[in-house]
Amino acid sequence: MPVALAFLGFWPAAIGPGPSKRRRHRTFLSNWLNMMNPHKNGPRNTAVVGLQWGDEGKGKVVDLLTSGHDVIVRYNGGANAGHTIVAGDQRYALHLIPSGILYSGKTCVIANGVVVDPIQLIEEIDSLRDRGIEVGDNLRISDRAHVVMPYHKALDEAMEVARSGATSAQGATLAIGTTKRGIGPTYADKVTRSTAVRIGDLTEPDRLRRRLEHICPMKSAMLASLGADGTLDAGKLSEQLAALGKRLSSHITDTTYLLHDAMAAGRSILFEGANACLLDVDHGTYPFVTSSNCSTLGIPAGTGVPPANVHNVVGIMKAYNTRVGAGPFPTEQDNEVGELIRQKGNEYGTTTGRPRRCGWLDLVALRYSAMICGADSLACMLLDVLSGLEELKLCTQYRLPDGTITDLFLPDAARLGLVEPVYETLPGWSEETADVKDREKLPANAQAYIGRIEEIIGVPIGIISVGPERSQTLAADCWGI
Ligand code: GDP
Ligand code: IMO
Ligand code: MG
Repeated sequence: MPVALAFLGFWPAAIGPGPSKRRRHRTFLSNWLNMMNPHKNGPRNTAVVGLQWGDEGKGKVVDLLTSGHDVIVRYNGGANAGHTIVAGDQRYALHLIPSGILYSGKTCVIANGVVVDPIQLIEEIDSLRDRGIEVGDNLRISDRAHVVMPYHKALDEAMEVARSGATSAQGATLAIGTTKRGIGPTYADKVTRSTAVRIGDLTEPDRLRRRLEHICPMKSAMLASLGADGTLDAGKLSEQLAALGKRLSSHITDTTYLLHDAMAAGRSILFEGANACLLDVDHGTYPFVTSSNCSTLGIPAGTGVPPANVHNVVGIMKAYNTRVGAGPFPTEQDNEVGELIRQKGNEYGTTTGRPRRCGWLDLVALRYSAMICGADSLACMLLDVLSGLEELKLCTQYRLPDGTITDLFLPDAARLGLVEPVYETLPGWSEETADVKDREKLPANAQAYIGRIEEIIGVPIGIISVGPERSQTLAADCWGI
């Protein structure tokens, strides 16, 4: 158990900001016990959650952990997510369907907290079937998930154009850089209530038509006021949506009871977070966030499964930071280092193809996300990308405009935009790591880099990824990967 030794080795030397040493030690021991016994006292439910600004490699980890679970559940977001799985010579990019779909005998659930674009979902189902992947009774969709309508996508686009033309007090554009998948407008209608359409409505043509007769004039006026095409026909739209509902009807069910029945039958659940903690609408870098609770705090509301049933949280982090879209990014390297990371890590969006902004690992932000999500262990992804850099910087604190140093994260975008990162510099390594199979066989400087992250965050790294393939994974034995 080399990883165990590494963990036990790092603790006595632990220094740096964070909770008291005694508390960290206790947390470390209980985290370690949790990690060692994912199925202690019967089936254990696991959450996989991104701890940065998305694209940390959640899809790869969900795919890896699927074999040890029975039900895989998406609880938030929509087709703004792009989760990549590489299996042999096959590469899959999933947006709405849980990343567990590649395994037979598993149930994949799109729960009530997700916003579902039925056109995109049907495309995804068809493309998986074309590639020989079974998508039938193994895919269940909540009747209470909200529907992303064509006008939501049009509004997302039109509002983004309007925001691009407006500026803040500091002269910055107000554009968020959304994925234009209709996410914000759909969640807005969910809380507005009278203008919402849920998946269950798609199978009730009369109810759907009546709702759309009420909604369409309002959406038409909104689109026209934003200078977009505002001619919506409720009759045509309800026919189109009812046809999509018919295609999806065999998958639609009450997924809350499904999940509780599964737990009662002793089946284990893997929760797949989309987006990431720093994009969480309440706890992220607001307003440059998405419109759902994408931290683990979104699981209970997004599924109907109480918090106590989430036993094990795996926080997914890249070995550096990236961000797509607008918003503060204190450690961003808009220079040759950022470009090197972008090229080596192929840092281009899975959903939109946009180049991702790249920078040094921000441990102030990571410690905050690990705290919000209750991470029991971390998965450190894309470590292979850092080979060849002479030195590496870890951001351990922020300097505020008045010169004060803090190790607290500032989730308000305007305030975060004013901080300067305080770095610790570590030596890099030149050896490639893509073929390394054991944490102890990593270059000494890479092991020191990993160890320093654990020290500062106070959470063990149980999985290290050195390439997109399933086999390019170094994991503690307990995961059975
Ligand atoms: P997600 O949204 O969190 O599931 O992440 P994405 O799929 O959007 O982006 C992660 C990208 O990194 C994908 O292209 C993965 O195939 C790739 N990837 C995952 N782990 C590794 C790794 O350890 N090394 C490298 N080089 N690529 C990885
Ligand atoms: P996965 O699951 C990276 C970002 C967008 C934009 C902001 C708001 O693949 O990690 P939205 O369309 O949600 O209204 O956009 O959030 N964003 C993501 N960035 N990965 C994601 O998902 C993202 N989901 C949303 O780029 O800045
Ligand atoms: Mg992604």
